[in-house]
Amino acid sequence: MEKEKWANWTSPVEFLLLGVSDVPRLQVPLFLLSLVIYMVTMFGNILIVVLVLADRHLHTPMYVFLGNFSSVEICYTSTILPRLLASFLTGDETISAQGCKIQFFFFGCFAGTECYLLAAMSYDRYLAICQPLLYASLMNWKVSFQLAVGSWLAGLLMATIVTGLSYKLRFCVPNRIDHFFCDFAPLLELACSDTRMLRLVTFIVCFLDVVFPFVVTLVSYICVIAAILRIPTTMGRQKAFSTCSSHLTMVTVFYGTLIIVYMIPRTASLRQLNKTLSFFYTILTPMVNPLLYSLRNREVKGALGKALRKTVACIESWYCL
Ligand SMILES: *[C@@H]1O[C@H](CO)[C@@H](O)[C@H](O)[C@H]1NC(C)=O
Repeated sequence: MEKEKWANWTSPVEFLLLGVSDVPRLQVPLFLLSLVIYMVTMFGNILIVVLVLADRHLHTPMYVFLGNFSSVEICYTSTILPRLLASFLTGDETISAQGCKIQFFFFGCFAGTECYLLAAMSYDRYLAICQPLLYASLMNWKVSFQLAVGSWLAGLLMATIVTGLSYKLRFCVPNRIDHFFCDFAPLLELACSDTRMLRLVTFIVCFLDVVFPFVVTLVSYICVIAAILRIPTTMGRQKAFSTCSSHLTMVTVFYGTLIIVYMIPRTASLRQLNKTLSFFYTILTPMVNPLLYSLRNREVKGALGKALRKTVACIESWYCL
């Protein structure tokens, strides 16, 4: 029998990210597809951040949250997609232990922040729609600032705890991660040391990071929908519902897949499903969110139009000088 070799986090181990190029024939199409997805995601989210920062009409709590949300999405996709693109391009599936750790630290950090920001955004909508008279006093500049900063800190804190604990892990060689990025759950599977304690802590952290904001988001949306149903005219109801339903769909897809992947134990039969579901919350939602949350929105469209006209005017005057 071959003796298992041990490797510590700190020793120079490498991990193999499987599932990056299972099928070599697909490598080029997958590269192009990911590149397009990455560019669309970046473009949409950067556009929103620039608009929110540049247009003074958008300096309200709702848009400050949205700007922060898009900033998180930019960072979040950038922890996964560039690495994936490089793997598709070079066919190199290895990632160093250090790289792996850094990837899951930042991924955890931004994912946590995103969950809390989603909760803050839905709470903001709940106050605006269900408590319109109290809105101005309950959601003032200070509260929105605290919620936004708190979201970033919460993500950072959770990621630090989990990453810190992971230093205790010992790995058996060979290290094959059956996933397209260094996520925590597939890493735990590879560990040869006892992971019970770590699993428990991770479960609690995931609960605070994902389930708690999810419940806040859900309750806020239920109140919003109940308020919408009370609108007397069918027209008004449909209009309010159309924006709300797209948010709700995206929130459900994002949290639903996150919860399935992180809260349900990874068994061999669920692993492939997990990999597929991970695609939704890591790659799909950041791409679609800017469209759903803002570009369909009248104020954002107005700001965009104004910015475009200004740019055109600027270029024209520059040519005429
Ligand atoms: C994020 O939130 C902070 C605090 O409210 C705010 O000052 C900042 O402008 C926001 N960022 C964006 C891009 O909107």
